[in-house]
Amino acid sequence: MAETFERTPETGGRYEPLGTAELVDHDDRSLRLRAGSTIVEVSALAEDIFRVGAFPEGRPPRYDSEAIAKEDWEPVEVSMERSDRKLTLSTSAATAHVSLDPLRISFTDASGRAFAADDEELGMGFVRRPDADVFTQPLGPPPQLYKKREEGERYFGCGERTSGLEKTGSHQVFWNVDPPLGHTASFNNLYTSIPFALSMTNGRAHGLLFDNTGRVEFDLALENEDRSYYGAEGGNLVYYVFCGPTPAEVLTSYTELTGRTPMPPLWALGNQQCRYSYMDEDEVREVARGFRERDIPCDVIYLDIHYMDGYRVFTWNEERFPEPEKLASDLREQGFRVVTIVDPGVKVDENYPVYVEGRERDLFCKKLDGEEYHNAVWPGICAFPDFTNPETREWWGEIHKALLDRGVAGIWCDMNEPSLFIPRNSTMPGHVVHPGGPGGEAKYHAQVHNAYGSLMARAVREGLLDLRPDERPFVITRAGYAGLQRHALQWTGDNSSWWEHLWMSMPQLQNLGLCGVAWSGVDVGGFWGDANGELLARFTEFGAFQPFCRNHTAIGTRRQEPWAFGEPFESVCRKMLKLRQRLIPYLYSLFEMCHRTGFPILMPLLFEYPEDETTYTADDEFLLGDALLVAPITRPGIEHRHVYLPQGTWFHYWTGERFDGPAHILAHAPLGEPPLYVKANTAVPMGPDMAHTGERAMDPLTFLLYPAANASAGELVLYEDAGDGFGYENGEYARRTGFCEVLGDVISISLSERDGSFVPERSLVDLELGGIRFRPEKVSANGAEADWSYEEADGKVVVRLAENADETIVRVEL
Ligand code: GLC
Repeated sequence: MAETFERTPETGGRYEPLGTAELVDHDDRSLRLRAGSTIVEVSALAEDIFRVGAFPEGRPPRYDSEAIAKEDWEPVEVSMERSDRKLTLSTSAATAHVSLDPLRISFTDASGRAFAADDEELGMGFVRRPDADVFTQPLGPPPQLYKKREEGERYFGCGERTSGLEKTGSHQVFWNVDPPLGHTASFNNLYTSIPFALSMTNGRAHGLLFDNTGRVEFDLALENEDRSYYGAEGGNLVYYVFCGPTPAEVLTSYTELTGRTPMPPLWALGNQQCRYSYMDEDEVREVARGFRERDIPCDVIYLDIHYMDGYRVFTWNEERFPEPEKLASDLREQGFRVVTIVDPGVKVDENYPVYVEGRERDLFCKKLDGEEYHNAVWPGICAFPDFTNPETREWWGEIHKALLDRGVAGIWCDMNEPSLFIPRNSTMPGHVVHPGGPGGEAKYHAQVHNAYGSLMARAVREGLLDLRPDERPFVITRAGYAGLQRHALQWTGDNSSWWEHLWMSMPQLQNLGLCGVAWSGVDVGGFWGDANGELLARFTEFGAFQPFCRNHTAIGTRRQEPWAFGEPFESVCRKMLKLRQRLIPYLYSLFEMCHRTGFPILMPLLFEYPEDETTYTADDEFLLGDALLVAPITRPGIEHRHVYLPQGTWFHYWTGERFDGPAHILAHAPLGEPPLYVKANTAVPMGPDMAHTGERAMDPLTFLLYPAANASAGELVLYEDAGDGFGYENGEYARRTGFCEVLGDVISISLSERDGSFVPERSLVDLELGGIRFRPEKVSANGAEADWSYEEADGKVVVRLAENADETIVRVEL
């Protein structure tokens, strides 16, 4: 490898857009052009996914990247047209227009909408350095892409950002870091990097993924309000355009390319408890007892770094945890799983087999002189696995046997930006070498930095699948790159016990959801600093609706378990976590939808209401699936807040009051009653009260429904399976769909036949209909009088049905 290493900003150079191009070749889906010494390919991967690649100085085209899950694309019907200075590549959904002199690429869809058009002046190209010898620089010339901003175009996405939903007029940096203690909304890049922007133009969406695992920057109409910029420090210029026109279609195509969230084990949707650290076995047992004695649901307890021997990964501290298997099995009997943290740094210690084996097999990152690269993390001086090497990943995956054999249920990957201590919060220098293994291609860290965390998570997921082929892996990651959702869930690192962080959690998780990472959560209660009762209670009111719900706090802070601050806060936490527990059938159905479609679970309102621009900045409220709208309280001492309810009819969960959107309302939300709205005619499947998932069968299963006249018909979706394993891939699931509508005085609810071969263990299904002000005249199920009751005080009708596989039609005559 070249021994010089300089970063672009210091070396300067001049941007040169690609000039005149000529067609050199084409195949069934691609055009291949030459512009000077650069080869450019434009391909239709699917009807609504286009790819553009530019490869300077005779580099062969290549698209392999940690972002990409799908490389073999089904044939797509493409027509190509050629005129003197223009080429087009069309699918039934969209057309790529390629002007040849100079080379500029733009897109239109079947309706004529133009999007992702190259800026006419700047197009795409590379930064040329003054000396001709640029290609001896390790990263090569920096690629840059300039796109025109369409009139009214607004930008979203960009991954884990905390500062709000809208990104128009912003500069975005994509470079994974472990930010210093107490980051704020003014911070740009954090632990993961997803160089993907979702654009909305007059209610219609498209997406752009700029795929480069080095440092990437976007300028989204800040420097010049008429264009956007996408550039990297080096490497090829590769980007993908997703045509939409709805955000849902963009996400479906984006996750077709980058992969979808795997089905989680059911227990992973339960409440989880962590602390840095529960110091020994007795403390862990006491926390477990605390949950059960206080009747607060919990499924998982975490062991943070103190379970290890001197922070050596894959070892146990025998004084603190003398019998890890017994601890795990006793906890399992009480309905808890144990998850352990694993960091990438491997202590340099000649008496530590993990280090010795890694060194002997040559699996660590290197310096330019070929020596191992070392830096300090928790255990002191460490070496760092080269996860770009498949052999390293396999090795790393296999070593997890040491943890699984002790009864560990899942793995928490931390510090994998990687975060280093010399200096604090730094990462590997760009010139560290990832040898990549035999046959692999050595790369500088600067070229693969943003992929390091994803590659570690991938090693763990693949390892867990090999070690326990019949169980769904549970893997958490802090760092990652586009596509990380196929390996792990993302928790968002070290927030603080501040009201500001409670607010920031909302845009942060919504932004992730718009970038394919649907399974996510922030530390409930906040990590750094001391929480207080009100903050923890309000944080839990929000946390209960996160796809991943875990309370976690740092060493030296006040206790933060749900009961830590006494009453009334303990009761609020209990109530919210019980509600979450009851919502698991709904959450699980959303996870299955996400697994199939890539849709977010906790989603911005704009995802469902893209034509309503008021939703574009509604970043302090969100939808959980299409049935629930949540608007948490994020300030101390207040019981009211503004809520925007989009188009449709909504019922306040706590009072049953009806609201017709679009409307701005002032919600009353005393402690324990966060603003929560249920969409009319849309069912929320709920289970019975349980201390932990799997404590008992989901019997009865309740469909909570607020039927409403003069509101659109709504859906009912319930997905169930064994809750673990892969039988669902062979049809062992139970899916029920249906609808609810109100015509005149008649509420009709249909439950389709149960699809799939899985038979849920239960005998009863309750339809709980809210907002019914008078006792109905008649309630029938499939024509016969139903088993039903009416509670006037609550305005609720409960219709009791027997669980069976048949279609059922319920009519309530008011
Ligand atoms: C990092 C993690 C945090 C963990 C701590 C100790 O700061 O983000 O969650 O508790 O390391 O392992």
